[in-house]
Amino acid sequence: MTTDDSHHDDASPDEDRRQSGGEWRESDARSGGPIVPDGGTEAEGADEATLDPWGSSTIADYRKLFEQFGIEEFDEVLPEVPNPHYLMRRGVIFGHRDYRPVADAMRNDDPFAALSGFMPTGDPHIGHKLVFDEIIWHQQQGGDAYALIADLEAHSARGLSWDEIDEHATNYILSLLALGFDPDEGTLYRQSDNRAVQDLAFELGAEANFSELQAIYDFDGETDVSHMQSVVTQMADILYPQLDEPKPTVIPVGPDQDPHMRLARDLAARMRYFGVTEAFASFEADAVERTLLRQAYDAREEYAEDADRPRCGEAADWLRDHQPAPADARQSVVAKLDEAGKEPLRPRIRFLDRNATEVAFEALIETIDGEKRVYDEHIDTFDLDHAEAEELARQVELDNGGYGFQPPSSIYHRFMTGLTGGKMSSSIPASHISLLDDPEDGYDKVKSATTGGRSTAEEQREKGGKADECPVYELYAYLLSGDDDEFAKEVYDECVGGERLCGGCKEQAAELMAEFLEDHQEKREEWEDKLDELDIDLDSDRAPTSAD
Ligand code: TRP
Ligand code: SF4
Repeated sequence: MTTDDSHHDDASPDEDRRQSGGEWRESDARSGGPIVPDGGTEAEGADEATLDPWGSSTIADYRKLFEQFGIEEFDEVLPEVPNPHYLMRRGVIFGHRDYRPVADAMRNDDPFAALSGFMPTGDPHIGHKLVFDEIIWHQQQGGDAYALIADLEAHSARGLSWDEIDEHATNYILSLLALGFDPDEGTLYRQSDNRAVQDLAFELGAEANFSELQAIYDFDGETDVSHMQSVVTQMADILYPQLDEPKPTVIPVGPDQDPHMRLARDLAARMRYFGVTEAFASFEADAVERTLLRQAYDAREEYAEDADRPRCGEAADWLRDHQPAPADARQSVVAKLDEAGKEPLRPRIRFLDRNATEVAFEALIETIDGEKRVYDEHIDTFDLDHAEAEELARQVELDNGGYGFQPPSSIYHRFMTGLTGGKMSSSIPASHISLLDDPEDGYDKVKSATTGGRSTAEEQREKGGKADECPVYELYAYLLSGDDDEFAKEVYDECVGGERLCGGCKEQAAELMAEFLEDHQEKREEWEDKLDELDIDLDSDRAPTSAD
């Protein structure tokens, strides 16, 4: 197993990504904030995005994440989010999976949750701050907020000793609290200490096998079992907020964690007792076949002897003649319809028995009102719509000992560029700013940062600076401007307009950074005295072994 120090966790800015092409989009006036780069095309190498939670994820082009992995653009749900966070307005949070249910819950004052985890491998830095802020913001919007220390993962995947883990864990917690996390309302825990998470991990592990982990994470015969256990533990972390009751839950992370999200969403679905789908006749049909069946049903006037009672055989004939669909899907559905022959083609909602106990299946049959037909592995109903059926399935599951999980949602933030250009890396102190850095060191690091400036002041006045390629501008957009969009926009406009020169710009940023660090560290100290009052145990009491 590797304990390579250059490997980093989700909030880590250690990832190699260059950005370019961001600009003020005037059309984007709704956000009123500067838009950070859209993902450039000029990174060397890497035209494939790789998402590896324990490797170095190279994200040359954020757009590829949409095409390759099906992450959706955050901009597209932004209008549905009530008073969005500045990281959302500025496109720092650039992607999501299924965030809509969370936004809906926020708007309707329904329960929802936010959870993220931190591997205590080093000091918390300004990359982690993005995630802290995201959790805190969701808490302020009324969500149940959770932050966890991924100590099992740090021990198994990175080989940290328990002493190191304890020290770092305390530092993460202090920064989270200093930034505004409310521990009375929210939940803090460490993986190793959470019995319910361990139990849930065990249950979820029963739904995943080695081949699958191999395919997702590139595990092989050398991968140790504890590392695999840390994966199911993370799956349990992600679903933990839903243990009392199913609710929309968002997991704010870096895109390197997306493989975990895909697995968690799969496992959440696999745990469900019942599937709910549309169907048109007694036989099973897949999604493509169902589309054809829907078309045939809608066209029944054209071919059915009795349009109130179209027959499967009639629909088969019509499909054979009329449907220019993919040949094999058509062939398979036509064969099924032919076989059903005189059976009426009739829309219905079908409950499929997925993971239900016998008792739960019986209970579902009992609970369905109206016309229903019971088969070995499914039940067809004719008087329920899809949403009602979903609701019913979940209720019966919950009443019969199931979890009724909703698929967890995620939001993804961009990785920050290193202050020295290239990657921001915890192993290169000058490239990042730790939340524990002396304010003076923070000041100095900003002052020596690379910029998107031109070679001479004259050229800069003439052509303007390249704010989109400037790590200092990123500091303004991601952190230093806070909620003040006007200010961020001003910096951007002045830079690209040639009115702002790098010397003064960095001086201003450096001062703001020093102020931020000073203030943050004061707040950390205030919390330090209150740490004992928290529910989280920051002493492992474990043997001082390393994982390998
Ligand atoms: N794997 C995450 C990392 O590398 C840490 C983590 C553990 C986590 N459990 C989680 C992140 C649950 C989000 C949600 O840092
Ligand atoms: Fe970056 Fe500021 Fe220079 Fe523009 S003026 S390139 S934002 S340091």
